[in-house]
Amino acid sequence: MIDLSSDTATRPTAAMRNAMAQAQVGDEQRGEDPTINRLNQLVADMLGKEAALFLPSGTMCNVIAVKVHTQPGDALLADRQSHILRSETGGAALVSGVIVDQLPGHRGQFTAEDVLAALPTPSVYAPVPRLVCVEQTHNFGGGTIWPLEQLQAVCAVAHTHGLAVHMDGARLFNAVVTTGISARTYAEGCDSVWVDFSKGLGAPMGAVLAGSTAFIESARRYKHLLGGALRQAGVVAAGCIYALEHHIWRLQEDHEHARLLANHLITLDGIDVQQPVETNMVFFDTSGAGIAPSDFLHEIERRGVRMSQIGSRIRAVPHLDITPQDMEQAIAVVEDVITTWKR
Ligand SMILES: Cc1ncc(COP(=O)(O)O)c(C=O)c1O
Repeated sequence: MIDLSSDTATRPTAAMRNAMAQAQVGDEQRGEDPTINRLNQLVADMLGKEAALFLPSGTMCNVIAVKVHTQPGDALLADRQSHILRSETGGAALVSGVIVDQLPGHRGQFTAEDVLAALPTPSVYAPVPRLVCVEQTHNFGGGTIWPLEQLQAVCAVAHTHGLAVHMDGARLFNAVVTTGISARTYAEGCDSVWVDFSKGLGAPMGAVLAGSTAFIESARRYKHLLGGALRQAGVVAAGCIYALEHHIWRLQEDHEHARLLANHLITLDGIDVQQPVETNMVFFDTSGAGIAPSDFLHEIERRGVRMSQIGSRIRAVPHLDITPQDMEQAIAVVEDVITTWKR
């Protein structure tokens, strides 16, 4: 199967498995795992933050960050298509008791004016707006990159009005390799930020949340509460360190593959491709070709290619395990299905 359903479909390479097998380990819960501690330090340095905390998943990073930044009844501001709102089982509401103000972003990015417009006149009636969440890159926006100036303006307006900024950096490195802007620069105006290792970076699991020392101390308590404190987790952290050292810049290959697919799709009658393709995601609509998304997915899967459905659109995400030959094969299958579909 050529699995383009998500960049989470990667499997650890032989070299990564080898690094994991060699890992020095200790009790992570007691802060005694040397490989976890090294990973935390590496990520804190990369993101320019005082401290960092290894967590099992990106979802747990978001849940904990919202919890630390807010009090029940506060308001969280985020793009209406953000992962925090759409794909985390309502965790922000359940765990933190926040209400959510959905901002009208364009492909996931909103403006400082959008934030200002959402701020209520302070009164006894209004919830206290406490946190702005941004997603870099933006998944359901189509792997789109926050322009640095726009991000900085959002951070500035948030801070002026007493709100913290949290960055979901599940695919921050995809932005970095495209723009050449460092992760530290993107993270500068954010009070907390995390990066994920289980996506394009190709590790089996793990994410690291970074922020001030006080923020991370508080986050550690919630990590424990949620059952996220681990034991000899250095085995996993070694895979993450390997990914940091070897898999960041190769993300460009995934972006090239995504552009290749998009450039091909736009030549096909009735296929509407979301443009531009900025990183590793291609979103497209097959309805103009008379093919329902579920039929399309079924047909390509029968021929050995998997993609996913997000709303009414198809999403394809090239990654580490996808070779140029896989891409050629996937494009041939997609073209065949679309051009031979009986209308
Ligand atoms: C933008 C974004 N945030 C958060 C997550 C959650 O990460 P995890 O799967 O590591 O829990 C994902 C997962 O796809 C994501 O795309």
